[in-house]
Amino acid sequence: MLSTSLSLTLLALASVVSADRTFTVKNNALFTSAGTAPSHATGWEAKKGTKVAFKVAEDWNGRIWARTGCKFDGSTLPSTCVTGGCNGGLECARVGGTGVPPATLGEWNLASPDQDWYDVSAVDGTNVPMSIANDAGCAQPSCMKDINEVCPTELSVYDSTHSTVLGCLTSCQSRALTPVPSNSANCCSGAFDTPATCPKENVQYYEVFKSNCPDAYAYAYDESSGSALWTCPKAKKANYTLTFCMYPLSSHFDERR
Ligand SMILES: *[C@@H]1O[C@H](CO)[C@@H](O)[C@H](O)[C@H]1NC(C)=O
Repeated sequence: MLSTSLSLTLLALASVVSADRTFTVKNNALFTSAGTAPSHATGWEAKKGTKVAFKVAEDWNGRIWARTGCKFDGSTLPSTCVTGGCNGGLECARVGGTGVPPATLGEWNLASPDQDWYDVSAVDGTNVPMSIANDAGCAQPSCMKDINEVCPTELSVYDSTHSTVLGCLTSCQSRALTPVPSNSANCCSGAFDTPATCPKENVQYYEVFKSNCPDAYAYAYDESSGSALWTCPKAKKANYTLTFCMYPLSSHFDERR
């Protein structure tokens, strides 16, 4: 089964010792995904208009992202996605995969004693617009602009028919630069591996992401923008809602087989 679908991924980077916070993940995208319902919460099919809620521990550290253009045939691995795939099956955790760029990430680190840290990240590029809300009155970062619409050709990742942009790579991940350079101002790697030596002005296409999604993380050291990394006092015990959105741009996201 091949579809331009949305499937969601949850990667927990810390063990669950208690279950205190509620996370809700909604798919308000105007398309339905195809595939087999998963049996495990680290990867699931997200039908249009559906939501999934689960609890995480007070020390949870993890990320949630969408995969698109996936082919999950249920029997043979690896399965593939055009964006955000795990080089494996529906459940990233089971195959040890992290999302293959480009993928917009919702990231949380609840492990620090005083604050929750969270962000919407375009550091691995972008695929599906998202917003993060909470019930504790804390910041609600989002990346609601469909960057696929404005992505430069050299950074665009297309669907299998090469007609629709499904994701936008960063200048670090650009296919022209494969493999990722070990000493690069675009990647903040090698000699450029500090905030001082990797200023945003030297990161090509930084503004593609930051101007369209001003409160998202647009490159590795984007804290200096003052609108990348967000906190919420731990004592408020915030519950978070992550919503994936897609406006009615076109019929590009209709199910395809
Ligand atoms: C978070 O959700 C729980 C129920 O799951 C609720 O008891 C708690 O009050 C919520 N937290 C906030 C800050 O509203």
